Amino acid sequence: MSKKLFIKTWGCQMNVYDSKKMADILSPLGYDAVDAPDNADLMILNTCHIREKATEKVFSDLGRLREHKEAKAEKGEKALIAVAGCVAQAEGDVILQRAKYVDMVFGPQTYHLLPEMVMKASGDRRVVNTDFPVESKFDHLPEESTAPGPSAFLSIQEGCDKFCTFCVVPYTRGAEFSRPPEQILNEAKRLVDHGAKEITLLGQNVNAYHGKDVTGATWGLARLIAGIDRIDGLERIRYMTSHPGDMSDDLIDVHRDIAKLMPFLHLPVQSGSDRILELMNRKHTAADYLSIIIKMKEARPDIAFSSDFIVGFPGETDADHQATLDLAHRVNFSSCYSFKYSPRPGTPGAVMGGIVPEQVKDARLQELQSILFEQQRSYNQRSVGRVMPVLFDRKGQKPGQLLGKTPYMQSVYVDAPERLFGQIVDVRIDKASQNGTAGTIVTTEEVLSSPSHETHYRQIGSKNVDKTAC
Ligand code: SAH
Ligand code: SF4
Ligand code: F3S
Repeated sequence: MSKKLFIKTWGCQMNVYDSKKMADILSPLGYDAVDAPDNADLMILNTCHIREKATEKVFSDLGRLREHKEAKAEKGEKALIAVAGCVAQAEGDVILQRAKYVDMVFGPQTYHLLPEMVMKASGDRRVVNTDFPVESKFDHLPEESTAPGPSAFLSIQEGCDKFCTFCVVPYTRGAEFSRPPEQILNEAKRLVDHGAKEITLLGQNVNAYHGKDVTGATWGLARLIAGIDRIDGLERIRYMTSHPGDMSDDLIDVHRDIAKLMPFLHLPVQSGSDRILELMNRKHTAADYLSIIIKMKEARPDIAFSSDFIVGFPGETDADHQATLDLAHRVNFSSCYSFKYSPRPGTPGAVMGGIVPEQVKDARLQELQSILFEQQRSYNQRSVGRVMPVLFDRKGQKPGQLLGKTPYMQSVYVDAPERLFGQIVDVRIDKASQNGTAGTIVTTEEVLSSPSHETHYRQIGSKNVDKTAC
């Protein structure tokens, strides 16, 4: 008999990938994914520990799941509750102690053992597995059991050896590990065979990728992208998240040479002050960052940039903050994430002196965001009137509406028939706001006569023109 599986996911795209894999692993055991916890047989919270209140959010959700578990118990049925992901990895013991009704706690590196863990927990034994096993979970993950959708994630690299002083990732995900290229290419082909048009290669430090093939040769991300580029039927490639220190010249070159590689780069900078970057142990300066931006623009003049910023890191002065604002002005981003520094237990930043008061952090965040939001709004505004290929990868909230992405990662709302879901279609951008755009499908005749058709999108990447996107 089929059983219901509810998974709630927080955090980065790698957690989204992991949740999908958990569903794939549990599918042969008869579990079907559902969107709500009501009457579910197994409920998994796949958690994120990157910023404050992560653990409290998990406990408040656990309280709600407990009610579903009790409702099921009243009917004489058993439901299991699991906490997975980075909070589980960091705070597994606290969870087990505080929430006696939780049946399983496991970290990001052990979820391939879910069938055994579920069996044990079904037999009334609580399970905790927050090891960093020597074997790679990727060698044990099953093939996808559900269609990936038009835009798929593919984890190629995991963990981090950089140890930025604010960040929990090296502790929750463990040491850097790159999957073998053959395994990645096979997974990419399967995703495309099952309908994916776009693949985003994922890693906490994706551009540090260094996978060994069967001959023992090491592939960097540039070579891997070139391999994935050869997959017939795949139309778009993206990757995230990159570290400025690993932005090698050959990776910059593939942005010029491979048209399927979309003209968008998410490159977190965190701060524009060299003093703060050093305290953060980022191992790059503001000038290093700006020189990457220049080289990327030379390789792909229409490229859009996005970044992550942290304000209020310990010791940050008004002058440091001003340097961050200056950097934001100099790059002119298309979109960004910005956060107030949140001390994470166990990281070096949490015990540094020079704590910045909360109201100063608030004011600095507001000041930075007013620049970044304006840049994003004006970036979207500049797209109005242009015709761009849009991949419809989501259904809109209203019937008859699809949501898609431009090559530059802008969201586009379009009135479109459902049969176009999963297709790349030329859309003229009619309206723009800070968060996205809205457009209209253009017919071929309209495209050919439109002056905006000649705008730079189609002239770039000329060495290997992406015909499907044109
Ligand atoms: N691997 C990526 C991103 C990791 S986490 C990188 O190297 O940049 C995603 C973002 O969360 C970070 O880029 C950072 O801006 C933010 N972040 C991480 N730890 C944080 C903390 N302690 N406080 C506030 N923001 C944080
Ligand atoms: Fe965290 Fe720094 Fe590693 Fe990114 S590079 S995951 S911010 S430690
Ligand atoms: Fe969060 Fe873990 Fe990703 S802490 S950002 S889910 S690596």
